[in-house]
Amino acid sequence: MKEEIEQIQADALATIAHAVGEQELDTARIAFLGKKGRLTAASSGMKTLSKEEKPVAGQLLNAARGAITAALDTKRTALQDEADRAALEGLDLTLPGRALHSGNLHPLTQLKDRAVQICRRLGFALAEGPEIETEFHCFDALNTPPEHPARNEKDTFYFDSGKLLRTHTSTVQVRTMESQAPPVRIIAPGSAYRRDEIDATHLSVFNQLEGLYVDTDVQVGDLKGTLEFFYRAMFGEDTEVRFRPHFFPFTEPSFEIDVKLRVKGQDPRWIEIAGCGMVDPAVFEEISKSRGDDLYHPDKVTGFAFGMGIDRLAMIKWGIKDIRLLIENDARFLRQFA
Ligand code: DAH
Repeated sequence: MKEEIEQIQADALATIAHAVGEQELDTARIAFLGKKGRLTAASSGMKTLSKEEKPVAGQLLNAARGAITAALDTKRTALQDEADRAALEGLDLTLPGRALHSGNLHPLTQLKDRAVQICRRLGFALAEGPEIETEFHCFDALNTPPEHPARNEKDTFYFDSGKLLRTHTSTVQVRTMESQAPPVRIIAPGSAYRRDEIDATHLSVFNQLEGLYVDTDVQVGDLKGTLEFFYRAMFGEDTEVRFRPHFFPFTEPSFEIDVKLRVKGQDPRWIEIAGCGMVDPAVFEEISKSRGDDLYHPDKVTGFAFGMGIDRLAMIKWGIKDIRLLIENDARFLRQFA
């Protein structure tokens, strides 16, 4: 029996040594240690041995089983190491990693956030209103008569119900004064809609920032100071700002605001950037009627308002030549604002 066990052990160790791959190793394990394996078969031969021979044979069998199991373990580890090495071959762990590109905010969002931040420093609170509006909030309450061209079907998107897509964010002035007692100091960024022919400077959906300040003694000087501060914070301390008399139905007096643009290699030039003015008493009259009280009676309060295109601000700030780039979502364009 001794020779038989030694033979099995020698065969097992040789088979294990030559095994290529885990599968062959497993086959070897089954062939020698499995239920029907050779060593297992040899152990059943113990039955025929004498009392004295049994313990000796038992020891030999155990030793053989131990040696084969150890050889299997060692070989398995060696095979795994080999596989790991093969997988890592050609891989240079000292190379720098591939950077993940994390996205960035859209330039319009960045600009709007900046505008809101500047106005907040001056005490303006955020306000909002619906994009589907009534004619009252978009025009009548803002002293815009029925025959005004902005109310034309050619310029404004109307619904069958008679409601419309707001043509400006000035509607939020009206809604704010309807729902809040003076003083109010709000800004309202948001979309506005016009039936414009789409080209490099026009879209039918665009973005505006409206502002309104109403209190007991608001004057033109406050309006100028506020907006000069705003444009200097937005475009730089040395930005020149100019107010030109203009007409808007909802303000009197009204102004258009120009800022002087300095582009490298070009002569500085004034460009129009916003509309503003002192809230027209007729607007306060409408608000008073709508509220049914006299908190906004034109004898009690004065105010200023302003409105500007956020898209236009972005185009000026970054020298963007075509407004359509702002809605095309071309990653090559957007990445430049990271
Ligand atoms: N609503 C005007 C527009 O869309 C902009 C504007 C001008 C708003 C003067 C104002 C303002 O509040 O006072 O062109």
